[in-house]
Amino acid sequence: MFARPSFETPRLTGNVTKPEADLEALLAYLKGTRGFDFTGYKRASLERRIHKRLETVGVSNYDDYLDFLEVHPEEFAGLFNTVLINVTSFFRDAQSWDHVREVVVPALLARRVGQQLRVWSAGCASGEEAYTLAMIFAEALGSEDFKERVKIYATDIDDHALSKARQALYTEREVAEVPPEMLAKYFEANEGRYIFRKDLRRHVIFGRHDLIQDAPISRVDMLVCRNTLMYFNAETQARILSRFQFALNDNGVLFLGRAETLMTHTSDFAPLDLKRRISTKLPSRTGTLRERLLAAANTGNGNAAKSEGGHARMRELAMDGIPSPHLLVDANGILILANERARALFGITQNDVLGPLQDLKISYRPVELRSAIDQVTTERRPVVLREIEWPSLTGEMRWLDVHVFPVVDPSDAVLLGAGVAFTDVSAAKRFQRDLEHANQELETAYEELQSTNEELETTNEELQSTIEELETTNEELQSTNEELETMNEELQSTNEELQPMNDELRQRGEELNRVNAFLQSILTSLRGAVVVVDSEIKVLIWNRAASELWGLRQEEVRGKNLLGLDIGLPTERLKAPIRSCLGGSKKNASVMLEATNRRGRHISCEVTITPLVTPDETIHGAILVMEEQEIPQQGASRDGARAATPVRQDGKRAR
Ligand SMILES: C[S@@+](CC[C@H](N)C(=O)[O-])C[C@H]1O[C@@H](n2cnc3c(N)ncnc32)[C@H](O)[C@@H]1O
Repeated sequence: MFARPSFETPRLTGNVTKPEADLEALLAYLKGTRGFDFTGYKRASLERRIHKRLETVGVSNYDDYLDFLEVHPEEFAGLFNTVLINVTSFFRDAQSWDHVREVVVPALLARRVGQQLRVWSAGCASGEEAYTLAMIFAEALGSEDFKERVKIYATDIDDHALSKARQALYTEREVAEVPPEMLAKYFEANEGRYIFRKDLRRHVIFGRHDLIQDAPISRVDMLVCRNTLMYFNAETQARILSRFQFALNDNGVLFLGRAETLMTHTSDFAPLDLKRRISTKLPSRTGTLRERLLAAANTGNGNAAKSEGGHARMRELAMDGIPSPHLLVDANGILILANERARALFGITQNDVLGPLQDLKISYRPVELRSAIDQVTTERRPVVLREIEWPSLTGEMRWLDVHVFPVVDPSDAVLLGAGVAFTDVSAAKRFQRDLEHANQELETAYEELQSTNEELETTNEELQSTIEELETTNEELQSTNEELETMNEELQSTNEELQPMNDELRQRGEELNRVNAFLQSILTSLRGAVVVVDSEIKVLIWNRAASELWGLRQEEVRGKNLLGLDIGLPTERLKAPIRSCLGGSKKNASVMLEATNRRGRHISCEVTITPLVTPDETIHGAILVMEEQEIPQQGASRDGARAATPVRQDGKRAR
């Protein structure tokens, strides 16, 4: 297990804030566990992308996110997908590709007639760029020649993108930028998608390659690395460009993205089309450089003054007329001549002339002249001391170039002495300084512009990727919506189907209510007590007469076993006839019982039991009708009692 980096490492001390240190720790963790080195990526964009993941997984800082990664290794895929932006398309920036097709590739083929060609698409994402190159070369060479001569190496750090690239299967939207005639020629339709021709695809070799850490592919004729460099900081860009310089053959072509430049490598590459970011690698220039240095060394001013015979005074006056200071020293170090300007500038008097130079201040200030003169007389060649500072009387700084040259008699090659000429280069120096300053400012402004441009471009790509994500979400929502809509319609139709059933049910319910009420009124109106029991002899119906007779309401007895009711009825005697009826062995049974109800009234009643039968003759209960029998008047004979007016024991006249 990779150990978390310690916060005591020197990089993280000093003015580093806690979030910065946490981000460093997270990046070190990613490098240590997964081999992805994001430290060279532009921080602003990187932070934005990582924050997106923080929001998605619901943590608020890098430290918690690191914990989350440790517990949920599947999150690595989400993180890398977010950081490595794969936005791409066929013929991206069509105008640049037109130029490549019409100018760059024909020129390359003209230089390499009949030879093998190696092309590298670095940061190829899902392969659109590599197949664009394949189409362009196949168009220029014809398919057969292409297959024999061209190899396209397409690399990326993102395995996920590479596996899509290898499939070479694209949706209609993805191939929208491929010109129709090329689409027809180089793709085969496959269930609504388009797949790049297999025979050509074999010459496009995809592989994982990290531009920061892996050795470059070598002997490349054309290197296309578009919209990838801009994700790296300047230092990393410079490192990668050095590798590209190594990867390319002399005069090989480098094709960058719209926002990318060769800021740090202008001496290795020459622009072919600056606007479209197409350059060529300059051939190795070691030899010419040496020659140029030699040439530069030889540009020293060798205009040795030649002494000519003539009028000495005239020569002297002529020397005085020269506006720059001049000195002449003989082989013994005696100052022979100091012109007017030299005398004025360095405070030399006429008395100093013909005296030893070494006695004068000019021999060591502003520059050590004595050793320069020694060198010139020994080596017999001129020496130039450049930009020697000499403050003027007003305190303003001046710069002088000091040319010291040997004076040799051409007739016998005898060294006569040395001449010293001073040239005031202050104006040029100031101009140069201003120019350098302006250049520096320009460079800074350019760098800022470049970085803003790259930032803009990366933000643009981030936006594009967000738009793509939103479009997918939108499509998903749309499909969910459609699904909901269909479910809604299905429900509506089911509802419509249920409506008549509902009506029918309601009608039946009403009918049932009516029948129930009717049954209830029959049961209520019956003179006798009616009790209906189920097959387990539990009470189902207990009419009003039964309530009056036995002193218990229907609610008190419903569901209870009739034989267990404590109503004063000797139910024991009912058990057998009820069972016979329930068992189907009897169609009816009648029992005379004497009872004393709950109110203490003595009752004599006849209980008639009939089975409760369904239309299909199934017995599922029994009906018990209990009729109270009149008790004969006192004194009447047993037989006479039946004939006498029946009187119930409660004194009411029986009906
Ligand atoms: C925006 S895409 C550019 C795709 C294509 N070149 C174009 O211009 O359409 C950037 C690609 O660079 C890749 N990339 C990022 N860092 C990389 C690295 N260190 N080495 C190689 N590829 C890298 C990403 O995976 C991504 O596929």
